[in-house]
Amino acid sequence: MARTPIVAGNWKMNLDRDASVGLGRDVAALAGLHQDLDIAIFPSVVWMTVVADAVAGGMLTVGSQDCYTEPSGAFTGEISPVELAASFDSCLIGHSERRHVLGEGDDLIAAKLRAALDAGLTAYLCVGETLEERDAGDQNVVVERQLELAIGKAGEPDLASLVIAYEPVWAIGTGRAATADDAQEMCAGIRGWMHDRFNSAGDDVRVLYGGSVSPDNAAELFAKPDIDGGLIGGASLKIDSFTSIVEAALQRLQM
Ligand code: PGA
Repeated sequence: MARTPIVAGNWKMNLDRDASVGLGRDVAALAGLHQDLDIAIFPSVVWMTVVADAVAGGMLTVGSQDCYTEPSGAFTGEISPVELAASFDSCLIGHSERRHVLGEGDDLIAAKLRAALDAGLTAYLCVGETLEERDAGDQNVVVERQLELAIGKAGEPDLASLVIAYEPVWAIGTGRAATADDAQEMCAGIRGWMHDRFNSAGDDVRVLYGGSVSPDNAAELFAKPDIDGGLIGGASLKIDSFTSIVEAALQRLQM
């Protein structure tokens, strides 16, 4: 398996300072044990720096849950991708909560993706359909449109710095994960789209599944050929559940 599996924890706006630093240290120890995997965490913007300082020098990647489209300027409250890249490795772009709770549209997400990649960050582009779109059978069209509007506008993106997370909106935080077969079908579709656009250069881009991944379903999801790991929300907030999910991803190395 040429693509190194990734297990990434998206902590959202959930942990206070002590909990963030404590969990960061625990995940850093886990990352030290499993260096064949890429393990990443996305703490809240407020605690990102203290967490990064607490885990500095190890194997754990610390990233931001969002960034802005511009490197600097009069953008009150926004996060500069260039400033981020000075201290952090990666950034989520277009998470469904940014799209659907904060109202981010495809143009903004495309500009953010481009800015993150230009700054040298590893960008985790999140895509996925709503329940309404899935019920209408439009999931493939929706995800392809999201890919086209974001990656298609990024010029010649540095594909080594791109990760794609398929996260159906209806599965996020609901306890209702996609079935492993459905997740595989969508991740394979994303890989196919990347291949059509970038030929074999697109084949190495890692495609993750996210949405109610848990210790109970992780092994089945990660056993699928096109699911290179997961973006984990709720189950990343406790070291025990996150460890189980990391262990499930380790099994991919035997495939
Ligand atoms: P969840 O969140 O694992 O809690 O469903 C996933 C995500 O938002 O990335």
